[in-house]
Amino acid sequence: MADTNIDWANLSFSYMKTDYNVRCTYKDGQWGPVEVSDSEYVPMHIAASCLHYGQESFEGLKAFRGEDGKIRIFRLEENAKRFIRSAEGISMQPMPVEKFREMVLKVVELNKRFVPPYGSGASLYIRPLEIGISARVGVKPADEYMVIMLVTPVGPYFKAGFKPTKVCMSREYDRVAPKGTGSIKVGGNYAASLVAGEKAHELGYSVMLYLDPKEKKYLDECGAANFFAIKDNTYITPASESILPSITNMSLCQIAEDLGLKVDRRPIRLEELETFEEASACGTAAVCSPICQIDDIDTGKSYTFGKADEAGPITTKLYNQLRGIQNGDLEDTHGWCDILPE
Ligand code: PLP
Ligand code: COI
Repeated sequence: MADTNIDWANLSFSYMKTDYNVRCTYKDGQWGPVEVSDSEYVPMHIAASCLHYGQESFEGLKAFRGEDGKIRIFRLEENAKRFIRSAEGISMQPMPVEKFREMVLKVVELNKRFVPPYGSGASLYIRPLEIGISARVGVKPADEYMVIMLVTPVGPYFKAGFKPTKVCMSREYDRVAPKGTGSIKVGGNYAASLVAGEKAHELGYSVMLYLDPKEKKYLDECGAANFFAIKDNTYITPASESILPSITNMSLCQIAEDLGLKVDRRPIRLEELETFEEASACGTAAVCSPICQIDDIDTGKSYTFGKADEAGPITTKLYNQLRGIQNGDLEDTHGWCDILPE
C-alpha cells in the first residue's frame, strides 16, 4: 500500500526523503555487490574526480502504480543504455544493463510505500547517478566509481502540469558546445544551464528554449526537456547533435505513428515556429508540457500556439496514450514497462 501521510495529489517535483537508497562501487576492475543504505550522505575523498573535474552522470526514470496494484517502471532498458553512453562520454566505467536493472528493481522494492497511488497523477522518480571517486589532482579519469540510485515521489515538473506554459529563447545562452556533451546526460550540462534557467524564471517563463549552439538558426531543446510540434497531422521534432535523445520523445514518436500521424525528425529552422499548430516540451519529468507561447527576448517577437488555457487536441491524445501505457490502463504493445515482481 502507498503511504497515507503524503498529500499525493499536490506533490511538486522536489526531493523528499524516502527509506533507502542503493549503491554499487567499481573497484579493482569490477562492480561489487549492490548495497542498501538508509543514509542520505556519501562519504568521499576530498580530491574525488567528480568534485573537481565533473566526472558525474545521471538518469531519470519513473515508476507508476496501476489500478491493478502493479508497479510499472517505464523504459528501464533505454535508460540503462543511455547511462552507458553518458559514462563512456566522460571516460567513466559504464555499468552493465543487468546491474542497472538489479539496482532499479531493488530501490523501488525497498521504497514501495512511496510509489503514489493510482489516480493521484504522481509517480516515483528514480534517479541513478554515477561519480568518479578516485583522488585526482591532474586532469585524468578516476579508476574507482560509485553508482547510487535514490527515489523520491514527484508531481508535475512545470507548475502548470498539463496546462500550457510560456517559454522564452535567446541567442545569449548555450547549455552545450556544438560537438560537446549535449547528447549525454552529465551534470556539467545542467550547471551550464542554471544562469539561463534562472533568467527565464526571473522573466516569468517556465524554461529557456535553446537554439543550436553553432549557428543559432535551428531549435534545439527546452531546458531539461525535448521539443516537439504538430503541423499538418505530423509530429515534428528537432534532429541535432547537441540535444539529449529523450526517451519520452522516442516513445511519443512511436505513439504518434500508432495514432496515424507522420513523424518528421529533422533540423527545424526558427522561422518555422510561425507555422506550428501545437507545441510542447517532453521528458520524463516534464511528461508532455504544452507550450502556448514562445517569446524571443532578443527581438521581442512572439510565437503563439493554440489556446492559452488548454492543450491542443493532438498533444492531448499523445499525452493520454503515454500516461495510459505508463499506468497500465492501455495495453503495453511495445513492451516498454517492467512490472515489479510481487
Ligand atoms: N533533454 C534534457 C536536457 C534532459 O535533461 C531531459 C531529461 O531527462 C530530456 C531532454 C528528456 O529526456 P527523457 O525523456 O529521456 O527523460
Ligand atoms: C528528467 O526528465 O528525468 C530529467 O532529468 C529532468 C531534470 C529534472 C534534470
